[in-house]
Amino acid sequence: MATYHQNPRSRFTKCFIALLLQIPDDEKGYELDLFCVPKHYEEDLDRVIIPHGLIMDRTERLARDIVRDMGGHHIVALCVLKGGYKFFADLLDYIKALNQNCDKSVPLTVDFIRLKSYCNDQSTNSVKVIGGDELSTLTGKNVLIVEDIVETGRTMETLLSLLSECNPKMVKVVSLLVKRTPRSSGYRPDYMGFEVPDWFLVGYALDYNEYFRDLSHICILNEKAKVKYKV
Ligand code: IMP
Ligand code: MG
Repeated sequence: MATYHQNPRSRFTKCFIALLLQIPDDEKGYELDLFCVPKHYEEDLDRVIIPHGLIMDRTERLARDIVRDMGGHHIVALCVLKGGYKFFADLLDYIKALNQNCDKSVPLTVDFIRLKSYCNDQSTNSVKVIGGDELSTLTGKNVLIVEDIVETGRTMETLLSLLSECNPKMVKVVSLLVKRTPRSSGYRPDYMGFEVPDWFLVGYALDYNEYFRDLSHICILNEKAKVKYKV
């Protein structure tokens, strides 16, 4: 009887949390002047959408959820470069903190893969692997793919299909952001930080032609900047 009551409730709690994480289409964000933004980007940004502190707080909770579900076994965390590096580093710090402060701990190793699918603010049709570790080392492992943002889902679907050829034991995907867009293939990661509107976002390692990775908060790029940094 207790189990009967517990399951629907935890399902409800999960749905409720997912709703809270949606950043609505009419979100106004915050004036740039309210936060510290590098001088060299002040003219390029419209608003702060997710302040760095909120990213960190959400990441801390994702670390807890991931360890709860995947813990007990060795995890190989696979960072999708370059955009995933900040989220990867902070997420792993939180997992390390759990390892240090809980009775149970989970061995953690890291791997890196570099993919490219974007030019200017447009997703291209091709997803290229342009570097990183050999995926064959992941055979038989519990793999946690760490990504910055899922938009169409093409990048993640390509990576998952490459990875499946190497027969890992388990694969989970965590993406800090998921974009709400009609271009989505319908793919959803196992864990996500925030669902965001169909905007081009930069900061916290998300880039526009390699710029804005050195910005702490996640912000909206303005139209002038799209022209200024266009390739
Ligand atoms: P997808 O293949 O369309 O899902 O695109 C995913 C990749 O495109 C991400 O890993 C990012 O590198 C990049 N991307 C998608 N949307 C944005 C954005 O708003 N800002 C920066 N990069 C983005
Ligand atoms: Mg990425």
